[in-house]
Amino acid sequence: MSEAAEPKREKPEGWGDINSVLGAPLENVTGDASWISVICMWLTLPISCIQGIIGGLCQAFMAFFVLGCYCCQCIPQWLCCSGMGSAECGRPCILAPAWWRYVIGGLVALIANSKSRLALFIWEWKAFGEGDHYWHGEGYWAVKYQECSEITKSEQKRASAFGCIQACVPDLFATNILLFLSNDGPDSEWAHMRSALHCTLLDRGASWYIERSKKLRSLVAAEWPNPQLTDLSDTPRVRLMVAKCVFYMMFGVWLPNEDAEIMRGWRDNALYFVLPRLVHRFLFNFGIRKVKSLRANSVAVIEKHGLESFIVDINEKLPERYKRTPVVKLCDEMMFAVGFAGIGGTSACCETVGAFLQRKIPEEASAHLINFEKFPTIESMVEAFKNDPLSYIKEACRIDPPVTSATSVSKETRVVTLKGRKYTMPENTFHNYTLSMANRDPTVFANPDVFDPSRTELNMALTWNGAFGTPDDEKVYPRICPGRYLSLDVALALVGHVVGLDEGYSLP
Ligand code: HEM
Repeated sequence: MSEAAEPKREKPEGWGDINSVLGAPLENVTGDASWISVICMWLTLPISCIQGIIGGLCQAFMAFFVLGCYCCQCIPQWLCCSGMGSAECGRPCILAPAWWRYVIGGLVALIANSKSRLALFIWEWKAFGEGDHYWHGEGYWAVKYQECSEITKSEQKRASAFGCIQACVPDLFATNILLFLSNDGPDSEWAHMRSALHCTLLDRGASWYIERSKKLRSLVAAEWPNPQLTDLSDTPRVRLMVAKCVFYMMFGVWLPNEDAEIMRGWRDNALYFVLPRLVHRFLFNFGIRKVKSLRANSVAVIEKHGLESFIVDINEKLPERYKRTPVVKLCDEMMFAVGFAGIGGTSACCETVGAFLQRKIPEEASAHLINFEKFPTIESMVEAFKNDPLSYIKEACRIDPPVTSATSVSKETRVVTLKGRKYTMPENTFHNYTLSMANRDPTVFANPDVFDPSRTELNMALTWNGAFGTPDDEKVYPRICPGRYLSLDVALALVGHVVGLDEGYSLP
């Protein structure tokens, strides 16, 4: 824990110690992520590497890694060489070799696809026959707009899963964060948690929210004199400012640099959240240790600034059965909303908008998937932003979404086609919906690769987990991002300051 984040005052009753939360017994440890499997993976690494490199460069092999040899289909429950079969059997240790080569193959494919997740998804979709679904991790992924939109409108079953793999809990992810809770009715844990979070920290109509959003631009200006467009390529600075802005909007405290640097870690460490436990252990839990200290330090920032009462209030608002004990557990969960969703998502948004304004391809995107033909110069880009900043940000995030997919759990058995063959997906299989691909579905978005903030179907994009800007979006899409306006307010304050947007501009 950094010295700057050292707690200074008495903690509220029942607050507890974050280390007891972070050190709770592990959940979701599959056989193939056992230490014996990890040791064997190290010992046989060259064999897995050779296979992984072939699979990561050749789509037919990647499909083979997942679906196995076709003879496997004759022996139900024993899909000997397939990632999908292993997932169906609960990923036992004996099938671990299928995962060793599969994770290496996935990494190679990501690197070969310019480290762009969207480019990787498209590559995998092609590997599985360009149908309505493909497979990645432990489940099947929906790519068509229609299906993704239906899921975002529905009551979703959820589990502790992220990126279509079982999440490392409680050491990497906190248990029971909103993302992991099913939205199955008005009395569900999800409904209570979401409403408490909204009223306390995200209520756009509240006087404190309006006051803070008015001050945001001048706070940014005070710390960012003589801004230049190229400053938007200074990623550490952009992330630091996003961390300050998001924290200020939610808690009313403008963080000093040393604390904002801690909070920026939620974006800097984003990679670690998508790795399966097998890979974390293979790397001797380096990433997990970093995230654990990020979580402890984030709680310490709350303690240092005496903000525990916000968390205590949220806990008080929850029905008895959902209250967290100790309360610091809720603080840790809330930091996932502030840090992981808020700072991570909004930083990605600002980085994308900053790159687009300079006619550059964002770091995590692939050049062949983005077309700037409508804006031949940097000046025309800046002008388009100034003309309609809201549409500019939405369109940039449609093309390069900060959150590329979300993991649901199928509520019934269904049959999906992969590589021309039918596969039965039992109930409770992970069912990802690929927002980044839905946002480029040509049946909804004309010339989907073309950056065009004036497109008529702009508000159909599912970037914020629903068609943000369509009538009654919050009712139609129950899980639509509750921080969507906040993310826009922050992006507008930051980018608006840099490009000299009229200070009077505010979101409709
Ligand atoms: C451009 C920035 C952002 C984007 C694109 C974005 C997008 C999303 C998406 C796609 C989801 C659904 C994820 C899932 O269900 O697995 C989500 C959920 C969520 N977002 Fe955001 N988000 C952004 C910024 C923010 C901000 C600033 C906050 C708050 C500070 C926030 C808080 C949340 C929370 C708490 C959830 C969980 C909602 C639930 O499950 O009911 N997000 N966001």
